[in-house]
Amino acid sequence: MALLKIAHMGHPVLLQSAEPVADVDAPEIRALIADMIETMLDASGAGLAAPQIYRSLRIFVYHVPASRAGDGDEALSPRALINPEISPIGQETMACVEGCLSLPGLRGTVPRHAQVRFGGWNEKGERVDGEAHGFHANVLQHEYDHLDGILYPMRMNDFTTFGYAEEFSRVAAHS
Ligand code: NI
Repeated sequence: MALLKIAHMGHPVLLQSAEPVADVDAPEIRALIADMIETMLDASGAGLAAPQIYRSLRIFVYHVPASRAGDGDEALSPRALINPEISPIGQETMACVEGCLSLPGLRGTVPRHAQVRFGGWNEKGERVDGEAHGFHANVLQHEYDHLDGILYPMRMNDFTTFGYAEEFSRVAAHS
């Protein structure tokens, strides 16, 4: 296993539409996923998409840490979704405070679907389908966007919420 270099905003790979994975069972895909999970955890991220490690493939890894679970949302161990599909359930939206390993230190509030249906293939090459809400739905939508070349600021509609996490917490501590 190896830690992978993370692409930062400005690199064109982050703006490309990623290619579907031809063989979800390929040993090199499993090895790539193992490295992506290690890299995500090392960087304290909740998710990491293949374009973020300079691979334009439709794969992302994610987890729901116990600290982000709650409100009926359960913690989920690190896992992968290959060639994912995501679709909204209903019209309800939620405001999500997001960060991204490709925009280090920054955060912003992004409107997202409150519930989604998802499908794809997992790290064992098995078909998976499910429904998600709360933080789980948030991370799925953020990571899926990476596969279409979309970064979270492109989804924002209130740029007063965009800035450095350090400054937001400094202001919060003094107000
Ligand atoms: Ni991201």
